Amino acid sequence: MEWKIIVTSFFLAIPLGIVMANSVVPQPQSNASFTLNYIENVGSCSFTVVITTSCSSTSYTRDQISLAFGDAYGNQVYAPRLDDPSTGTFERCSSDTFQVKGPCTYQICYAYFYRSGYDGWKPESVTISGYNTRAVTFFIRTFIPADTWYGVNLCSSASSGHQNPVIKWFSYAFVGPLFAVFL
Ligand SMILES: *[C@@H]1O[C@H](CO)[C@@H](O)[C@H](O)[C@H]1NC(C)=O
Repeated sequence: MEWKIIVTSFFLAIPLGIVMANSVVPQPQSNASFTLNYIENVGSCSFTVVITTSCSSTSYTRDQISLAFGDAYGNQVYAPRLDDPSTGTFERCSSDTFQVKGPCTYQICYAYFYRSGYDGWKPESVTISGYNTRAVTFFIRTFIPADTWYGVNLCSSASSGHQNPVIKWFSYAFVGPLFAVFL
């Protein structure tokens, strides 16, 4: 009787494991090889960018903060100097909304900040929406290091399921059954 429940929950748990393994939140990181694509910085598409500053950020920041985001096909939008301490931009625990123009893109899959200055700044998240792109939110939740592109890049995983197959297999085989234990 009891072994049936165990076996059933074992197989129910495998799909759950797959879902869990695929929704692992990527950690933001700096990307020294990231470069701005200057050629295509004019465009006629409009994006709404909502940046939330963490409640554990500095109370305000006078740093110079820029943002670059784009799709998996080389279309990139650059939003220089979003900072403006005189209007309270990027104050602790606040949300700022920007309208940014750039080339039209497919699904946005990366967002990188560039920060220069001495105050420091810790964003919670950045949400980008546009005409051809579903709203996407990148969580940062850490202080942005100075003078480097720093953010989240999901492009390879979004376009080709580019995840280490061993890790993937491991998650399928073990995360699911592990859950079975708790069901
Ligand atoms: C860094 O940026 C480059 C150029 O945009 C990109 O090809 C690469 O995948 C990025 N690296 C990481 C770790 O996201």
